[in-house]
Amino acid sequence: MKRENRSLKLKAPRGTRDLLPEDMYLLRYIEDKLRGVFERFGYAEVQTPIFELFELFALRSGDEIRNSMFVFETGEGEMALRPELTAPICRLVAEGKIDVMTKPIKLYYIGRAFRYEEPQAGRYREFWQAGIELIGPRHPEADAEVVSLACISLEELDLKYNLELGDVAVLRGYMTSKGVDYEVQNKVLSALDHLRSRLRKLEVYSELLLKENDAHLLSEVKRFLYPIELRKRRLRAKVEENIPKELIERLEPDSRIYKLEELRVDEVREILKRNTEDLKLMEIISWCYEGLRTSMGTLKLPPDVGFKLLEALKLKSIRAHEVLEDAKEVFKESEEALREIERLNELIEYLDDLNVKGYVLDLGLARGLEYYTGIVFEIHVMGLGAQSQVCGGGRYDRLIAEFGGPDIPSVGFAFGLDRLMLALKMKEIYPKPSVPMVYVAPISDDLRGAALKIAAMLRNAGIACEVELMRRRIRRALSFANKRGFPFVILIAPREYQSGSVIIKDMMRGTQELVSIKDVTDYLRSRK
Ligand code: HAM
Repeated sequence: MKRENRSLKLKAPRGTRDLLPEDMYLLRYIEDKLRGVFERFGYAEVQTPIFELFELFALRSGDEIRNSMFVFETGEGEMALRPELTAPICRLVAEGKIDVMTKPIKLYYIGRAFRYEEPQAGRYREFWQAGIELIGPRHPEADAEVVSLACISLEELDLKYNLELGDVAVLRGYMTSKGVDYEVQNKVLSALDHLRSRLRKLEVYSELLLKENDAHLLSEVKRFLYPIELRKRRLRAKVEENIPKELIERLEPDSRIYKLEELRVDEVREILKRNTEDLKLMEIISWCYEGLRTSMGTLKLPPDVGFKLLEALKLKSIRAHEVLEDAKEVFKESEEALREIERLNELIEYLDDLNVKGYVLDLGLARGLEYYTGIVFEIHVMGLGAQSQVCGGGRYDRLIAEFGGPDIPSVGFAFGLDRLMLALKMKEIYPKPSVPMVYVAPISDDLRGAALKIAAMLRNAGIACEVELMRRRIRRALSFANKRGFPFVILIAPREYQSGSVIIKDMMRGTQELVSIKDVTDYLRSRK
């Protein structure tokens, strides 16, 4: 090997983290809490492989999912590191490994997932998920129980959260009644999810601008607005034959976005507002006139359907019953949608029974994953920045059957454990690893064997202890014990040891006592 290579700095790959002892302690703490809650609801743990056949994930999401995953070729086909665990669980059930005659099947998992995404604070390429899947029931009380389980888990961790609840069945019901194919529905729902997160970003920028108007923020806003502006200009420049002129003309390019720093805050905010409307309009143009790419080719959505779906983005409030009343009005011509709204009404009653309150019902909520067929929900913890979503879930009634298994409806969710760790660390009252109770230090080198013997005796009795292994002199050994925070130090001194005793120092009180070796364990137990 050449010298230069040796001096290469090795580091962990981008988007991955080394979990240090404090991190692992916190991770295990969270896992234990979640396990406790999951098991209280009757869920049993399973483990599936870290990698799967790539096909498993491509089947529902299309080959383009390849770009956001770690895919590798093997002699036995293409494999992928799992980006989530719901598809593997459904594969397991579809394979017939679980008795599906005895329903419901309640499974939980804790494991790593991998996504080839652009890393940022709280978004990693390797991360941990803990989730549950309730397989069997199709009724709203099951949905309600799953949502409440997610909430109780966060309460168990003492975290404050915001729950956002939606239901893609209403939008799907409406689209079905308008003859929109299921595959196109999937594409629309993921496009809607993408749009929603971009609209949210504009909202956040607007809020931030009130507090700070710094150059860094403005350049971020500019970067966000550029592609929107470019697209507007492109659409205006070549009025496509099939796109109504009056739609395109509503998109007015605005060169002020190139010099935001010269504008007043209210002007920048007005530009953001304007772009919010333009972004929605461009989305309609994209769905209805340019078409959505599906496995059956490029398919277009009828414009009236497109505009109606955008109306759904406004169906959002903490007053769930009002949202449902408004939804009935918006979707009044679709019996399918109205039926789903009725079911949602029932769900809301059950949530009330379970004391799930203060959530936002948002009928424009369509999560990115394409398998959802009914309720969808996301839970956010404030203070985590852009990646505040600690939990995501929903109902997916077709996935197991799509994998060749029986036709069993299911619902579930997954927590992102890395984000829960960040949330607990933010509160600054997170558990840290405890130091063993005792540190055993010999006063002279010939007593090192005696120290090992005493330590072995304590460990046998279930008392955690460490022995001085660096051959430090006693003063330095004591200062180390003090720094590490051991509550007790056992000093082994020649004369005392000869007569069957050791010195036990209480590091907190600063006292010490001579204790007979046969009484040491009882003495320490009484001080625990
Ligand atoms: P998801 O929303 O994609 O849903 O992921 C669940 C959670 O994993 C997110 O809320 C987030 O906390 C965490 N997460 C996702 N991506 C990352 C990342 N790159 N870095 C750190 N954390 C991340 C699912 O995965 C579904 N399988 C949930 C589900 C279960 N639906 C039904 N059953």
